[in-house]
Amino acid sequence: MTSSNTLTVIDNRTATKYDLPIENGTIRAMDLRKIKSGPDDFGLMTYDPAFMNTASCRSSITFIDGERGILRYRGYPIEVLAEHCTFLEVAYLLLFGDLPTPDELKTWVNDITHHTMLHETTKRFMEGFRYDAHPMAMLVSTVAALSTIYPEAKDIHDPANRLLQIKRLIGKMPSISAMSYRHSLGFPYVYPDNDLSYPENFMNMLWKMVEPKYAANPVIARALDILFILHADHEQNCSTSTMRSVGSAHTDPYLTTAAAAAALAGPLHGGANEAVLGMLDEIGSKENVPAYVKKVKEGHGKLMGFGHRVYKNYDPRAKIIKWTAERVFAVTGRNPKLEIALELERIALEDEYFVSRKLYPNVDFYSGIMYQAMGFRPEMFTALFAIPRAAGWLAQWQEMITDPEQKIARPRQVYTGQELRQFIPMDKRARALHAKIA
Ligand code: CMC
Repeated sequence: MTSSNTLTVIDNRTATKYDLPIENGTIRAMDLRKIKSGPDDFGLMTYDPAFMNTASCRSSITFIDGERGILRYRGYPIEVLAEHCTFLEVAYLLLFGDLPTPDELKTWVNDITHHTMLHETTKRFMEGFRYDAHPMAMLVSTVAALSTIYPEAKDIHDPANRLLQIKRLIGKMPSISAMSYRHSLGFPYVYPDNDLSYPENFMNMLWKMVEPKYAANPVIARALDILFILHADHEQNCSTSTMRSVGSAHTDPYLTTAAAAAALAGPLHGGANEAVLGMLDEIGSKENVPAYVKKVKEGHGKLMGFGHRVYKNYDPRAKIIKWTAERVFAVTGRNPKLEIALELERIALEDEYFVSRKLYPNVDFYSGIMYQAMGFRPEMFTALFAIPRAAGWLAQWQEMITDPEQKIARPRQVYTGQELRQFIPMDKRARALHAKIA
């Protein structure tokens, strides 16, 4: 008798029936390989551009229910973590699977704090960039350059060595981001201050001028820490799957993290927060919102900060950001762009085009408005996303490295090119041939 937990497939080419086991709501793509039209057939594959319906790993880190707008790290709802934890506590949770005890947290914070300093050569490396270099390009290059400073990071199979590099990366991401910011302003770099918390120290490295000791505004520091928590992980998104894919070649974690950060920089991913500000500038005022929405519906561009591959409901992170923004604005004053954003959200959420496609504001819609109120220039926004996401990337990287089922990532393709061709010597090639290729 056929087991109920199987999928029965009949190949009409051969009238052969196959029973494929179903596990965790998936069939194994490799089980399809035995479905062949004949002995010379390679076997069936799935065609899934952009991985719309392919699980590439088992993961116990982050859970998302996109239909219901749920996000949990290691089983804890994001709302609870944002309310009660610090970012470093959450980073520990992502990496080790459980919330730290007070002693574990103390040691962890101490360890990260003692890895915030950068090698002096990093400063000279940074100085080579043009004054107007984009912070994300500087961040990607500088994280990759750390690989030259810590060559032992190559030993990715040694758990202690892996943990050391993880601590270094989490410690140094704010230092590099702050350096890239100061570089673009022409200000001298600020060294880390070990007395300060993770977000306060970041603020110190960004904004300290001549005062002997930087005093961070506690509301801004807490808001930044909440934003770090919200951005810390998001399961198999574009940058995380890049992290896993590049890491699967056993590349060291600095080069791998740089690759993930490069993926994050794109405007469809983490770069959307910067693009939202550009869009709000272009709209200019609340009155222009309907005309802008009409243009988007006619196919001219997208509403940046709207839509998500997984969420078909309000992004839970956007809800928390909206609520945190009010506290920030109480200190900084209201960002006038908020009025435009609220109107955009109101109109879009009532519009059939957005409703039928289930397009809701995502994490990037309100974060930029808040970052700007805090004093960041839009070019810096994606680096602010990359700092906490490094914890998620590294947790996912570690899970991948220690998963015996994982191998080097290597998708297949459906070849659509020429069959075997005769080589044409140079003097016999006709111009028409080149025109065809172009
Ligand atoms: N504005 C207008 N239309 C949109 C938008 C948008 N922001 N997003 C999707 N659509 C339309 C799209 O044109 C398509 O319409 P149709 O069915 O008529 O062709 C439909 O909605 C489905 O969209 P899709 O492009 O198939 O969806 P996707 O899952 O491939 O893309 C996305 C997801 C996030 C790339 C996309 O929604 C988008 O480009 N949004 C704007 C950029 C953005 O805010 N990115 C940040 C994502 S969240 C944080 C992160 O990942 O870093």
